[in-house]
Amino acid sequence: MEYRTIIEPFRIHSVQAIDLPDLAQRERALERSGFNLFGLHADEIIIDLLTDSGTGAMSSNQWAGMMRGDESYAGSRSFFRFEAAVKDITGMDEVIPTHQGRAAEKILFSVAVSEGDVVPNNTHFDTTRANVEYQGAEARDLVIAEGTDPSAILPFKGNMDVERLRRTIEEVGPDRVPLVMVTVTNNSGGGQPVSMANLREVRAVCDEFGVPLYLDACRFAENAWFIKLREPGYEDKTPREIAREMFSYADGATMSAKKDGLANIGGFLATNDQEISLNARNLLILTEGFPTYGGLAGYDLEAVAIGLDEVLDENYLNYRIRSTAYLAETISNAGVPIVQPPGGHAVYIDAATLLPHIPPHEYPAQALAIELYRAGGVRGVEIGTVMFGRPDPSGGPDTSAAMELVRLAVPRRTYTQSHIDYVGEVVIDVAGRASSLRGLRIVDQPAWLRHFTARFSRL
Ligand code: F0G
Repeated sequence: MEYRTIIEPFRIHSVQAIDLPDLAQRERALERSGFNLFGLHADEIIIDLLTDSGTGAMSSNQWAGMMRGDESYAGSRSFFRFEAAVKDITGMDEVIPTHQGRAAEKILFSVAVSEGDVVPNNTHFDTTRANVEYQGAEARDLVIAEGTDPSAILPFKGNMDVERLRRTIEEVGPDRVPLVMVTVTNNSGGGQPVSMANLREVRAVCDEFGVPLYLDACRFAENAWFIKLREPGYEDKTPREIAREMFSYADGATMSAKKDGLANIGGFLATNDQEISLNARNLLILTEGFPTYGGLAGYDLEAVAIGLDEVLDENYLNYRIRSTAYLAETISNAGVPIVQPPGGHAVYIDAATLLPHIPPHEYPAQALAIELYRAGGVRGVEIGTVMFGRPDPSGGPDTSAAMELVRLAVPRRTYTQSHIDYVGEVVIDVAGRASSLRGLRIVDQPAWLRHFTARFSRL
């Protein structure tokens, strides 16, 4: 008999207590934080789905590996284990450790991108966009049209629109396109995967114009699993084989090991370009640390090296993708509109559809995220006009984002099915009274990455 329940393929070895503060405490916390969930204290939250980044549980193997961490400033053994693990998957010549993904982006774009350039991506993540813009370049999102339609059901909604990519390079001129990036999976577009066929097509366009291709590889293993499940010809390949093929089409990659590195901190820049790696290493020494530790402890390098191996385990990936789909099914079967099909690391509630009475410049997804916290102590994150909109310099309404989403990101190996059932209950309750929610107004915001620190008031 084969039983159908897909279990968490681990048992719990060490626990951390969580508790639900009462309603009055939650309301006070919201006032204090200016209705910005980034301002909450972790103790004020019972289930924290703010991010899947650095929030997962490490395995006993990773903790054991950390005990062998070699803290040599230069040439640490742990670095060579880390480098071997990264090379094994990416096949790339140069591996530069960084403290997290955005540090890899910062050094890559600092050495490769100039003012006036255009960087195409299926969809830039917020830090990726900010790092491109910080160089005075333009970050252009070229995901396929269905990629911004929450209800369109497609196996690979993260794909790049290859025709728009070609037209963009022709219009801008290849000299002003220093690199093309593809984000796997497409986080800002709903955690949607990119197909191998699409990667091959993007590669062909890059070759046509002599432009390098980089992967934003944070969730490469989840993307590989979706390819195995959904793309003909890959059903019998291992996740590692699929991941290797994905990386084989790229000239380089940036990675946040806080996601599919199964670590709490870490990242890297990998590249086949000697000149970029030379310049990136020089900058790394200035901002992150010597090239054999890149701002990490030796024990962090060990945790990532082991995590990169564990993340490609089929039982793990099967559980991972299935447990995210379970949350998606729980709420969507109750009529809550979500981005379909569910992503790998998160479920994205479609706040524009759920709250049609709140216009984008009154931040419907922020209003929903706030209420999920107020009602049930659950923290998600707005991925909409707060994150991607821009204030109008003449004081009119913000330019709006392509979608208004609340992302419920599932930390890896951290919550059990009953935690997820509880989240489902909270979401369904709040969605049932969505028409009574009101929008928000921004009272204070910084020039960059406003969603982290902006303060709001209720309308
Ligand atoms: N690229 C993507 C696609 C990401 O999702 C992230 C981080 C980064 C780059 C930057 O990596 O955080 O290690 O500097 N995403 C997190 C999130 C923060 O919540 O989705 P980092």
